[in-house]
Amino acid sequence: MHASFHLAADLDTALKSAAATAGLADAAAFSPEVRVADPKHGDFQANGTLGYAKARKLNPRAVAEQLVAALPAAVRESYDHAIAGPGFINFTLKPAALLAWLRAYDSEPALRAGAAAAHANQTWVVDYSSPNTAKQMHVGHLRSAVIGEAICRLLAFTGARVIRDNHLGDWGTQFGKLIYGYKRWADQAALATDAIEELERLYKLGNAATPDGSPELDEARAELVKLQNGDPANVALWQKFSEVSLAAFQQIYDRLGIRFDHNLGESFYNDKVERVYRELTETTPPIAEISEGALVVFHPEHPRFKTQPFLVRKADGASNYASTDLATALYRTEHFQADGIVVVTDFRQGDHFEQLFLTVRKWFAAKGYRTPELHHVTFGAVTGEDGKALKTRSGDVIKLKALLDEAVERSFAIVSEKNADMPEAERRAIADIVGIGAVQYADLSQNRSSNYVFAWDKMLALDGNTAPYLLYAVARIHSIFRKAGVAPGDAAAQAAATAPETAAEIALARKLVKFPDAIRLATETLRPHFLGLYLFELAGDYSSFNNADKVLVDEPAVRARRLLLCARTLLTLETGLHLLGLRTLTRM
Ligand code: ARG
Repeated sequence: MHASFHLAADLDTALKSAAATAGLADAAAFSPEVRVADPKHGDFQANGTLGYAKARKLNPRAVAEQLVAALPAAVRESYDHAIAGPGFINFTLKPAALLAWLRAYDSEPALRAGAAAAHANQTWVVDYSSPNTAKQMHVGHLRSAVIGEAICRLLAFTGARVIRDNHLGDWGTQFGKLIYGYKRWADQAALATDAIEELERLYKLGNAATPDGSPELDEARAELVKLQNGDPANVALWQKFSEVSLAAFQQIYDRLGIRFDHNLGESFYNDKVERVYRELTETTPPIAEISEGALVVFHPEHPRFKTQPFLVRKADGASNYASTDLATALYRTEHFQADGIVVVTDFRQGDHFEQLFLTVRKWFAAKGYRTPELHHVTFGAVTGEDGKALKTRSGDVIKLKALLDEAVERSFAIVSEKNADMPEAERRAIADIVGIGAVQYADLSQNRSSNYVFAWDKMLALDGNTAPYLLYAVARIHSIFRKAGVAPGDAAAQAAATAPETAAEIALARKLVKFPDAIRLATETLRPHFLGLYLFELAGDYSSFNNADKVLVDEPAVRARRLLLCARTLLTLETGLHLLGLRTLTRM
């Protein structure tokens, strides 16, 4: 029996061809709309009959009957089907089909090969994290990094060539004040130990010493102008700021499993904005116009942006966030040949990206450039349990490094309490994976659009939709294989497996074959929590199976098929957690 990877998608195709075979009127317009069903009704449900019948004043049940009669043999072989309610068609996989699927998708590369069709031959640029330089990352920088990395991995898993681009905020007026402060008060010893902390101090000093209207502010501005004009001393300083910032960021990225392919910050686009201004004004009609000295783009079709224009060049001639982002969109399209661009920032930049994308679409269309898919992936705020911004006791923003350290420390205390006799090095290694994973997963388990409450006890709990719960499920399956004396990937131990039989075995197998649907949903919507939710439910089904059916029984066929289910659950949990950016453990 052939097992297609994405069963729902294949069923959709099969129903479309059944519509043609059955001679349905207007068959080409029939969309089966196959989706994952409530398990009570089956595995998949085709809803498209209703809309199709309604639009043509047909009886939906009669349409469903015609379709069912014309189903290809392969579908009849794999599924039981039933027409339900007003005319849905429910499909339930037969145990033999479940077994065939589980045998076919037996490794991470096999799953990856199955999933790769979605974005095959596509290039996606993902712009995430993208902090401003000369400052430490704080808790507000967590979400973009964590969500962005998960999205990169999902896109790569579904076949895309992914370019991770850290669009650093490394240009702007703040550098005048920082250079001003640096030249007066830099402490070389402090720079050698914690450069970025010292830069923050120097910026604060520089800022405090240059109030509006003061001659000191003029001096700071002069430093900025020198930098912009390529003064070697100031350029060298600015380069140093970027280098130490990146080195500090990389320490955080290492802990989160992030590696950028490029760090093309705002400064990279300095010499690329002139072309943007030119192209936006040379088309007929021009896309941008001069308003009060500034170059702006109105979007008359938009309720707000018809009066509130997109400012792409300031009245004093200087570039801004919009100019560099326009140049960035062009560079990603031309240089990287992007088919898709994803930018991950907090929701407050919504208007900026909406105006940016509207402008890019008009500009590229006018110039005849191919327009990539453009996505602004937004997320809500992180707050403390009191609903307010997360702050330290002294009222400062929490540094990301301190937050990750605390996660690992807290997790170390829990691990030590549970495994007092384990060697410390091992407890530390576990605590690192669980602690960092807990922070990542606390974010990824929620719909990114919502604000989320940062609660240590909840994210470190061993029950609920948490990293410790999922990591523990993984470790527990590993321990079964240790007891059985075989490796999870050992196909010989599973060779005698028969099709799932007990209610718990069948429920688990039916959940396992839905992995492609979870991947697809999370990737299409760019919402990793759909994958998290699936993994949580899978772990629940596994736990029910484990409570109901003993795995290491004597009967060889039963033992083999239960080991097969364990192995595939493990594979799916590990693959899924790795896609979310977490590391997993074999013992916990
Ligand atoms: N540096 C910006 C910030 O800290 C985020 C940049 C996002 N990317 C972009 N192409 N604008 O908010």
